[in-house]
Amino acid sequence: MGSRRSKIVGTGLGYPARIVTNDDLAKKIDTSDEWIRSRTGIAQRRFVDLENGQTITSIAVEGAEKALKMSGLDPLDISFVLCCTATPEEWMPIEAARIKDVLGLERAACLDVNAACSGFLYGLHLADALVKSGAHAHILVVGGDVFQRILNWEDRTTCVLFGDGAGAAIVSVTELNDPKKDSHILGSRVYAALDRDNNLTVTKKDPEFPARTQLLTMNGREVFKWATKCMAQACMDIMTEQKISPEEIDWVVPHQANIRIIEKVAEFLNFPMEKVYVNVDQWGNTSAGTIPICLAEMNDKGLLKKGQLILVTSFGGGFTWGSILIRW
Ligand code: ACO
Repeated sequence: MGSRRSKIVGTGLGYPARIVTNDDLAKKIDTSDEWIRSRTGIAQRRFVDLENGQTITSIAVEGAEKALKMSGLDPLDISFVLCCTATPEEWMPIEAARIKDVLGLERAACLDVNAACSGFLYGLHLADALVKSGAHAHILVVGGDVFQRILNWEDRTTCVLFGDGAGAAIVSVTELNDPKKDSHILGSRVYAALDRDNNLTVTKKDPEFPARTQLLTMNGREVFKWATKCMAQACMDIMTEQKISPEEIDWVVPHQANIRIIEKVAEFLNFPMEKVYVNVDQWGNTSAGTIPICLAEMNDKGLLKKGQLILVTSFGGGFTWGSILIRW
């Protein structure tokens, strides 16, 4: 008998209704398509249509429904929902419970996970551990954010980087017999360090400036240095731990913050860009949404083939970061 492991059996993503190009932004703030594209690789981002009732829950549910359908599981098979987000509709009721309710996952326990942009990677790390331990057999992991709610449109350097988005994966129990062939999560590494200098922060309430409360601020250059160094190290750590060489990796799926961060990580690790999945041009930085959106897009396009090795890495506010190796 093989060992008890976990694998991803379904993926899906939700589409925010509004597409906003760099030229659209240039009508609203002092920026240009050329500036944004050359520094970040971003051409457009999507925003949920808050005015017409689209929310983080709507796009999370859309992604989760697709993932569930792909898995072939019954909604009653799901015993846990992990919703990874820094922008839930409200602090309470928790976001995972909203998703559970819409999807009719009547037997599922629920937990929100906030590790900022690394949320989904942390969620997969937890789901893998919960499945391996025997506590759960089928877990829905959702990752997504609606950063438009915390963007400061007076900070042109930061607001152009982000979009809204969410995706989902179903993590299920599997029996591992042949580690070189069978689909499974090989392992994951997660890390954190307090961002003492508030390089990436949502500002605390300031009674003197009520209109400026709860807005995202970022020291882009510092975050750039942290993100590139930490993601590269996390990738090296998991490959060393799992005795996998860079040549064996079929796909690298990095957090989609900025093309220059992605290229720098690939350069540190000597990965050719052909092996690195990039969609930041279409989505911008969707925070906890980037990784599940990538996996769902790749799966839908048929890019992920059984037996391939996928290296996922992420970095986010906190700071939080990590890596995960998946045999697809
Ligand atoms: N449009 C036009 N001009 C702009 C804009 C804009 N949107 N924003 C800034 N500028 C101008 C500045 O005013 C400045 O002009 P000046 O030289 O006349 O003063 C010039 O562009 C350069 O500004 P900098 O702030 O120094 O820009 P920099 O070259 O550092 O690039 C950027 C900024 C793209 C944000 C870069 O620092 C970066 O990529 N950082 C990483 C940020 C990131 O992606 N973070 C998220 C990763 S982790 C996560 O997802 C949680």
